[in-house]
Formats: sequence, C-alpha cells, structure tokens
Amino acid sequence: MNTLNQSVLPIRTETDVVIVRQKVRAVSVELKFSLVDQTKIVTAASELARNVLNYGGGGTVAIEVLIRESKNGLRLTFEDQGPGIPDIELALQDGYTTGGGLGMGLGGARRLVNEFEITSRVGEGTRVVITRWK
Ligand SMILES: Nc1ncnc2c1ncn2[C@@H]1O[C@H](COP(=O)(O)OP(=O)(O)OP(=O)(O)O)[C@@H](O)[C@H]1O
Ligand SMILES: [Mg+2]
Repeated sequence: MNTLNQSVLPIRTETDVVIVRQKVRAVSVELKFSLVDQTKIVTAASELARNVLNYGGGGTVAIEVLIRESKNGLRLTFEDQGPGIPDIELALQDGYTTGGGLGMGLGGARRLVNEFEITSRVGEGTRVVITRWK
C-alpha cells in the first residue's frame, strides 16, 4: 500500500477544527469521493477533532491519501496527550458523555467510516484512526 500526500494539522482552537473540516473536504474532493462520502468523512473528522479539543486538551490530525490497487482511501489519525479514556466500550456507547454533550460523537464517527481504531491509555492520551475507502 502506498501513502501519498501526508499532512499534519494542529487541533488547538475552534478555528483549527474549521480548518481540519475544510482540508478533509478538499482532499475528499480531490479523491473524487461522492458528496455523501465527503460528508461522512468530514462529519466524522469534525466529531473527532472536537473531542481532541474538548477532552484531549488539543492535539493533531494526520491526513493521508491511500492508494491500494485501484482503490483510493482517506485515512485520518487523531492524537492527543490528554487524560485518556478509562473505558473505551462505554465511551463508544450512544448517549455516554462526561462533558454534557449528546454522547454521539465517537459512535457516530465509527458508523460513518469503513475502518475505525481507537487506542487510549489513561494519563497518556488517545489515538483514533479512521479510514474511508472510495
Ligand atoms: N480524545 C479524548 N480524550 C479523552 N476522553 C475522550 C476523548 N474523546 C472522547 N472522550 C470521552 O468519551 C466520551 C464520549 O465521546 P463522544 O464524542 O461520543 O461524546 P461527547 O463528546 O461527550 O458528546 P458529543 O460528541 O455528542 O457532543 C466523552 O464524553 C469523553 O468522556
Ligand atoms: Mg464528542
């Protein structure tokens, strides 16, 4: 598998979240994703970026274009060095929130992509990797 065109963006402010959304939209357009698929990956990215900001104390997202045989994909890796998530299964459940949100972000993001991996260590941070294939 080849990786092309990797870029890393900071997620420190609300404005950064907007920039992440714009960049993910632009790359998905370049990849000729359908409008529906563009919206899916942008929505998932927005939820995960907001979690990095709200719970992770800020972090980064790496944006990678993947070329696998004739299939193209977009992979996003969100990382923070925040408090971590003690119970990932619980955090993924719809309606679970520690921040007065709807508790729909993680579960919703998982349903919008083809691949979803989350790893977290309490006191070290959280990494979420999502991939949407064309
Ligand atoms: N990067 C993170 N670091 C630490 N905890 C996190 C992180 N992302 C999510 N969590 C925890 O998982 C919970 C569920 O996250 P989720 O995005 O599903 O819901 P929410 O952010 O609380 O609400 P919503 O996204 O619907 O506004 C959060 O309330 C928080 O406790
Ligand atoms: Mg959230």
